[in-house]
Amino acid sequence: MAEPLRLGIAGLGTVGAGLVRIVQRHAGLLETRAGRPIAISAVSARNRDKDRGLRLKGYGWEDDPVALARRADVDVLVELIGGTDGPAKAATEAAIAAGKDVVTANKAMLAVHGQALAEAADEAGRVIRFEAAVAGGIPVVKALGEGLAGNEIKRILGVMNGTCNYILTRMEAAELGYDEVFAEASALGYLEADPELDVGGIDAGHKLALLAAIGFGGQVSFGDVQLEGIQRITIEDIHLAADMGYKIKLLGVASRTGRGLEQRMAPCLVPETSPLGQLEGATNMVVLEGDAVGQIVMRGAGAGEGPTASAVIGDIMDIARGNRLPAFGCRASDLVAYKPAHNASPAPYYVRMKLKDQPGALAKVATVLGNAGVSIDRMRQYRHQDPAAPVLIVTHKTSPVALAEALAELPNTGVVIGEPVAIRIEEV
Ligand SMILES: NC(=O)c1ccc[n+]([C@@H]2O[C@H](COP(=O)([O-])OP(=O)(O)OC[C@H]3O[C@@H](n4cnc5c(N)ncnc54)[C@H](OP(=O)(O)O)[C@@H]3O)[C@@H](O)[C@H]2O)c1
Repeated sequence: MAEPLRLGIAGLGTVGAGLVRIVQRHAGLLETRAGRPIAISAVSARNRDKDRGLRLKGYGWEDDPVALARRADVDVLVELIGGTDGPAKAATEAAIAAGKDVVTANKAMLAVHGQALAEAADEAGRVIRFEAAVAGGIPVVKALGEGLAGNEIKRILGVMNGTCNYILTRMEAAELGYDEVFAEASALGYLEADPELDVGGIDAGHKLALLAAIGFGGQVSFGDVQLEGIQRITIEDIHLAADMGYKIKLLGVASRTGRGLEQRMAPCLVPETSPLGQLEGATNMVVLEGDAVGQIVMRGAGAGEGPTASAVIGDIMDIARGNRLPAFGCRASDLVAYKPAHNASPAPYYVRMKLKDQPGALAKVATVLGNAGVSIDRMRQYRHQDPAAPVLIVTHKTSPVALAEALAELPNTGVVIGEPVAIRIEEV
């Protein structure tokens, strides 16, 4: 009989428990497909006495995930603890140093330490795989790193935080404000312990940085992702965007431009008829664009026990089959340290403002925009709400610098009430 691939699973929470269940439920199927059994040697979590609804009899137990990583009967450390540093990183480093492969779902750790960990794995002749770290059950790491390996990647786009998409689509469907839906999401347990990770775009930014590294052959640079959360999105913007044929999404976009590597995770308008525009609820979607393949759209569950464990077991199966891929699609030493593009590429913008109800107000606004080189594609004035008239402008493609210049000048017209709101429109 072929030698089993022996796992040490660190973390028995949502994902770890899901993995144990798949390994047990599909033992025969996994063995047939891999050509060898997939066995669990030992596990680790904080609390040994917790009832997890799992059959753990027969597996070794380690209180310390580093000890688990070093066990002689472990070939692959499956790190499912989470966190940028701490035990997850210590166990991952210990595993590589001890000559073990690593499978992890930990985007926070990889977004910050991915380059160093990939270099260490290369030097040790080990692999570190992380399909579950990006968009949960969607096999996008595989698609980008393997299926599209012959393409020059043009652009990567994605809605990669299900909680944010749930909040935005729920605001629209239930006609509720951000704060009310945020409270609902919190009560439903949809938010991370630190909600800023979700609504501030940080979690999705981690995922975008990982995909950008694979797609563009660059060193992971989460620090260069321009981050903006969804907190400032109002129900009014959602309605007005819909009136112009758009939906608002927390959208990640990465592309290589003449000015450097652009990585943005921010609210954007997308056409309501596009696949991204039609994405409802907590689902994730990743859009990949390659020179040969054109556009590919992948959609599925971005989180949860089954989908995430499905991605973890996919990586384990690769290792069992001897499919040993470098973490980011090429040797870590060949990954480029890209210069970040500090300003986003030109795009159309949605601009909403309130104007005083007085003759010539619109003309003044048009003049300021024109002077900054921002041209108007469409404009709509809404029913008068004393003393202000809401006005919505969709610009032609414009540079964000020109738009910022115009927005800074608008208060000097004396006709704009409050702060105008500008949101980028992503062409998809
Ligand atoms: N949940 C998802 O849908 C999802 C989706 C994609 C990626 N991920 C990623 O998957 C990873 C795990 O997420 P999760 O949701 O499964 O987390 P979780 O439910 O909070 O589980 C974490 C597990 O780690 C264990 N743990 C914590 N500190 C430990 C330590 N010092 N030593 C040993 N074990 C320790 C915990 O032990 P106790 O059980 O004893 O407390 C628990 O079993 C994270 O990196 C997360 O970002 C999760």
